[in-house]
Amino acid sequence: MLSRKRIGILTSGGDCPGLNAVIRGAVKSATNLGYDCIGFLKGYEGLVDPVSYMPLNTKNTSGILTLGGTILGSTNKGRFAAVAGINDRIEIDVELLAAAKTTCEQLELAGLICVGGDGSLAIAQQFHEFGIPVVGVPKTIDNDLSATAFTFGFDSAVDCATDALDRLQTTAASHERVMVLEVMGRHAGWIALHAGIAGGAGVILIPEIRWNFDNICHKILERETQGKRFTLVVVAEGANLPSGGHVGEERRKENQQMRLGGIGNVVAQELQGRLHREVRCVVLGHLQRGGKPTTFDRVLATQFGAHAVRLVHHRRFGEMICYQPPNFNSVPIIDAIDRLSTVDPRSAAVQAARALGVSFGDRSGVDSPFSSPFSEMEEQEAIVGVAAFAHTLDPVAV
Ligand code: F6P
Repeated sequence: MLSRKRIGILTSGGDCPGLNAVIRGAVKSATNLGYDCIGFLKGYEGLVDPVSYMPLNTKNTSGILTLGGTILGSTNKGRFAAVAGINDRIEIDVELLAAAKTTCEQLELAGLICVGGDGSLAIAQQFHEFGIPVVGVPKTIDNDLSATAFTFGFDSAVDCATDALDRLQTTAASHERVMVLEVMGRHAGWIALHAGIAGGAGVILIPEIRWNFDNICHKILERETQGKRFTLVVVAEGANLPSGGHVGEERRKENQQMRLGGIGNVVAQELQGRLHREVRCVVLGHLQRGGKPTTFDRVLATQFGAHAVRLVHHRRFGEMICYQPPNFNSVPIIDAIDRLSTVDPRSAAVQAARALGVSFGDRSGVDSPFSSPFSEMEEQEAIVGVAAFAHTLDPVAV
């Protein structure tokens, strides 16, 4: 019989900056509430065959706040894979679920904190339905989980992409080149949008807005008439080609999502052919997932860790901690995963970018930058909608 209560933690899916800050935040606050902690290794894989975990305490989590990656390791799409795409639920093998439940019971866990993105939280949801006491923490650089304004890792990824644009800007200007930067963002263009705005991109291509090459060329030529003989183009890996479809490798295994990547080069080659000048591409890839978390992500991840422990303590199983500024609330995990959070083409950020003359490739760049496919009323509603969101959130519920 254990003398102290125990909480389990696991980090699942693609890693991102801030995972260790969540672990540290959870362990410190759990310890102060009288819990011991263990961390399962390599995500959900550590729960079964072989069960593998390490004790976590304030000593061995000291100093990890600023460390990228995860000290527990992680697995993307292992034996527990529960989704292959948006809304494509895959039932986890009942024997695996039963084995995971047995592990939690044998270790006498008061609760299991699952830190992950949409796929990993879909697994947590099935654990919850099976009677395993889980709570969720939203993680992904893509920022595409509903119910939370931000996932941790996003700000760090945007910071990385913005730094890349800053560097590309000086070399593009020196050589009067068009430079294409491909960033991550499987279903949503949040990284491309935010980095594009922060890094002064002339063109931003995201999955949420249909674009074509004519419009991009128009924008580049328009900039030239304004004396700007270079252009930065940011493209999200998940942006659809004008002809439809994504660029990437087909599924590696059954039940796995397509590995995206390569659209930047496709865009660069097409633009080069059309503009008859050199267009170069940089694929940022996993650099966006590595390295230290930003200040914002450290604060967010630390709070997520501490509040996730509170959810366990109050037996709020099946719920996920979320940030709804200025509050931290909790929502059923299912609410965060059944619909992904994507960029609203009418959002204030998109409108602001357009107002500055940024092209999303959906209309000719020689048109007024203020022109819109939406009526004035729709645009007004979009702006009001953003303002209303900021005032209608429920107070802290954890
Ligand atoms: O979901 C986060 C993410 O970084 C996506 O943007 C990207 O498509 C995917 O993970 C890549 O995952 P992996 O490193 O497993 O190929």
